[in-house]
This record gives sequence, structure tokens and C-alpha cells, in this order.
Amino acid sequence: MYNSKIIGLGYFVPENVVTNDDLSKIMDTNDEWIQERTGIRERRHVIKGEETTTTMGVKAAKIAIERAGIDKDDIDFIIFATLSPDYYFPGPGVLVQRDLGIKTIGALDVRNQCSGFVYGLSVADQYIKSGMYKNVLVIGSEVHSTGLDFTTRGRGVSVIFGDGAGAAVMSREEDTKKGILSTHLHSEGQHAEELAVIAPGMGKRWVTDIIEENDPNDVSYLPVMNGQFVFKNAVVRFSEVIVEGLQANGLGKEDIDLLVPHQANLRISQFIQRKFELSDDQVFNNIMKYGNTTAASIPIALTEAWEQGRIKEGDLVVLAAFGSGFTWGSAIIRW
Ligand code: COA
Repeated sequence: MYNSKIIGLGYFVPENVVTNDDLSKIMDTNDEWIQERTGIRERRHVIKGEETTTTMGVKAAKIAIERAGIDKDDIDFIIFATLSPDYYFPGPGVLVQRDLGIKTIGALDVRNQCSGFVYGLSVADQYIKSGMYKNVLVIGSEVHSTGLDFTTRGRGVSVIFGDGAGAAVMSREEDTKKGILSTHLHSEGQHAEELAVIAPGMGKRWVTDIIEENDPNDVSYLPVMNGQFVFKNAVVRFSEVIVEGLQANGLGKEDIDLLVPHQANLRISQFIQRKFELSDDQVFNNIMKYGNTTAASIPIALTEAWEQGRIKEGDLVVLAAFGSGFTWGSAIIRW
């Protein structure tokens, strides 16, 4: 039995910065409302034709692989978490295999939205722990901006989300006291429609329905979010799953060196920080710059934290996520 550890991290965000003031020119919103409710000051949006979920994921992955100090052909498996794939199918995992020009290794797509990276990390961890694979590439990448409603009708959702990608190379660790100590995953499908994009799907709303109706007011392919309900569930589930992870390892909140929460909303992070009595140095937030980038938010934040020297060898790093599904999860890492 082995452990797995993160040996390389990378991120990529598009150059195009969209500030709150930029949004207030195209919809009825303002900087004060957005910052007060979410903490977000700006986010990145792709320029059409320049980047996709896959191309950004590949750029982040190349940085992670280089920092890992391995060759791309040493990667044994690809895991790609996103809610915004380039194509309806196939998923972006195979596109990464193609675009990185690597061997015909397996590629898995994860559909767990904001928890996607933690879910992906957990899958990679199990493959490595069992000895099946040595090096696994885990990517979280999203293009939200091309699927949001940037009129006043969509302001409750569209101001929150941004585009970007992050990646981690995970590898075998012989010392079982180091690396990923444990991961904890949950779901509650009862609330699936509280934060969702309903169409196109093969369930309630078929592609053929949309084509036949040809209704310019059809919003079924835009995200819906019951913001306050999501907020209330998020603060409870974030807390529960962090405690679950710590307890599973005989640890307490005083052992946390750095909490890297999914960047859902700065108010959610601040609530968790107060609840666990953590200092500003013990919680990493970058939602101010990038908005909520869903599956990409944790790997982008983790990479920035590492680049800024906020993570040292031996630190206890806690990842926690909550999002659409609902799904939530945590990872407890001894760096
Ligand atoms: N700019 C200005 N006003 C806006 C707005 C915007 N971008 N979006 C909504 N409003 C308005 C609403 O229309 C409403 O107006 P009304 O009172 O006249 O009806 C008012 O602001 C309050 O809306 P409400 O939705 O109740 O605001 P809120 O305090 O709940 O904040 C969220 C909204 C989305 C910021 C908040 O609920 C939230 O952060 N939820 C969690 C979301 C999240 O984390 N999602 C990702 C999960 S992974």
C-alpha cells in the first residue's frame, strides 16, 4: 500500500479581465453589490476562438508536469473535472491525451461541478494507493462565460462565475504518513435542481424540444441557482466535511496549516474561517481575482498558495468543496 502526493501544480487563466464595473455597463448591477455579497472584484473571460476548457486545461497541465519533473509519457492516467466540456461528448479527458501527445492511456471525465477536483483527486489517490498507477494527471477547467446570461435577468448567477484551469500531477509516495491522508465524498441529489443547467439533456428537456420550440425566451440551457439555499447548505456541508476529514486522521482544527476552500463565495470562506477559528494566514482566498471557477477553483488556489510559499513541507493542508448536485468533499493532505 502506498500514499499519493501532489508533485506538480499549475494553472492558467485567460488574459481578458472583466471587472464588476465592466459588468455594470451591460446589466443592472454594481461593484458594491457584487463585492459585498461575494467578495469578487474581477474575473477572467475567454475570448471566443482563443481558449476552450480543454486548451486551458492543457496549458495548466503542461506547467504541472514540468514542475513535477517528469516526462509527459510518465503519466499513467488522466482525470478531467469540468461542467463545461468543449463537446457534449466525448469529454475533454481524451482531448488532453491527444493535445499533450501522450500514449493511449486511460482518460476519465468527472461530472461533479464545484467538487469535481476533490472527486478527481480522490479517484487518483485510490489508483495510486492500490498500486495500479504511479503518476496521475488531475485537471479542473471551466469556461463559464460563454454559457451565462449577461443581461439583468441572469445577474444573480453571471456575476459570480469565471473561466480558468488548474492541474495537479499526483504520484506514488512510499511514506504513508505523507501525501493525501484521506478524502471524503458526499452527495445529496434531492437538491439537484437548486443549482443546475437543465438542457440540453436527454431527460426532462430534449435537444429536439429546444429545436422544435425555437423560443427566444427559452432559458432552460442557462444555469439556475437558488442562491440563498445554496449558501445555507454550503456553510453546513463545508464544516461537516472538514471535521469528518480531521477526525478520520485523529486531528483537530488546531492542526490545520492551510485551508484551501473551493472559491464559491468569499462570505462562505469567511464563515468557515470564523467557525474553525483560523487566522487570515490559514485560509487561502483568491475569488476576488477570478470569481468562482467551479472545478478549477481549488487547483488554481492551491497552485497560487504554493507559488506564494504559503505551503511548506510537513504542513497540513485541507481542501474542501461544495457545489451543484449537491456534492461536497474534503481532502486532508500532509505536504
Ligand atoms: N446585482 C445587483 N442586484 C442583484 C444582483 C446583482 N448581480 N443579483 C441579484 N440582485 C438582486 C436581486 O434581484 C434581489 O433584488 P430584490 O430584493 O429587489 O428582489 C436582491 O439583489 C437580493 O437577491 P438575493 O438573491 O436574495 O441576494 P443574496 O443576498 O442571497 O445574494 C448570492 C445572492 C447569489 C450572492 C448569494 O445567495 C450567494 O452567494 N449564494 C451562494 C452562491 C454560491 O456560492 N454558488 C456557488 C456554489 S458552488
